[in-house]
Amino acid sequence: MYERGGAIGIFDSGVGGLTVVRQIASRLPREDIIYLGDTARVPYGTKSAETVVRYAHSCAGILLKRHIKLLVVACNTASAFALDSLRESLDLPVVGVVEPGARAALEKTKTMKIGIIGTRGTITSGEYQHTLQRLDPKVRVFSKACPLFVPLAEEGWTTGDVPAQIAAAYLCELIEHEVDTVVLGCTHYPLLRETIASVLGPSVALVDSAEATSEVVEKILASTDALCTSNSERSLHFLASDAPERFAQIGKAFLDHDIGDVEWVDF
Ligand code: DGL
Repeated sequence: MYERGGAIGIFDSGVGGLTVVRQIASRLPREDIIYLGDTARVPYGTKSAETVVRYAHSCAGILLKRHIKLLVVACNTASAFALDSLRESLDLPVVGVVEPGARAALEKTKTMKIGIIGTRGTITSGEYQHTLQRLDPKVRVFSKACPLFVPLAEEGWTTGDVPAQIAAAYLCELIEHEVDTVVLGCTHYPLLRETIASVLGPSVALVDSAEATSEVVEKILASTDALCTSNSERSLHFLASDAPERFAQIGKAFLDHDIGDVEWVDF
């Protein structure tokens, strides 16, 4: 049994994981949340597996010092590369975003043709593809790295001609393969949901890994009797490894809420 008093620790390479915080915070309104954005070392999506694993362990180390009861790896790239190694070395439940997203996609698809979009790291890791095939060997998976979606989301340039043209160029292969479900396999992509949906058309269902992950977090806390039962106001605490003011400014759109103070952490 884990302590009810501990917070849910969540980390990401930067602001993107706030889309995961948003889902977990709305599903679990009593839980304290502590979030670390590794803004000093973002992006993870272009880095090697070895580097991402090293960064993921140092982020986990910072959060473990803050009294957490469960760790969420909000970053898809870090989930793809580092989840097994974190689980092996840490003595608390560790939740990644890949398997929840894959399970949600399998629940939605009717044709068993699923598209995955994510960073280069996530796509080249093959982790979504392997997870889907492990869960159901009949599935056919088509994947596409969409690296420009990350800066577009951070610039707030999520609708209009330019994002639509970029989305059309990235997504045409998935359309040709006639996928009926696409997983938004990157923290930033929920911000481009409207543009992605209009390019793919109404026959394609979108799966937000962040939303699916929040359900898994709730199930784990409930099954270990670790859900917070206190009625006092919950705390949301934010840490960033660089430029905390910029984190607060950009992060607002990802969290869909003001962020307030952000603590700078060095590691
Ligand atoms: N958070 C990353 C992910 O979900 C996207 C940004 C980055 O490349 O670090 O894969």
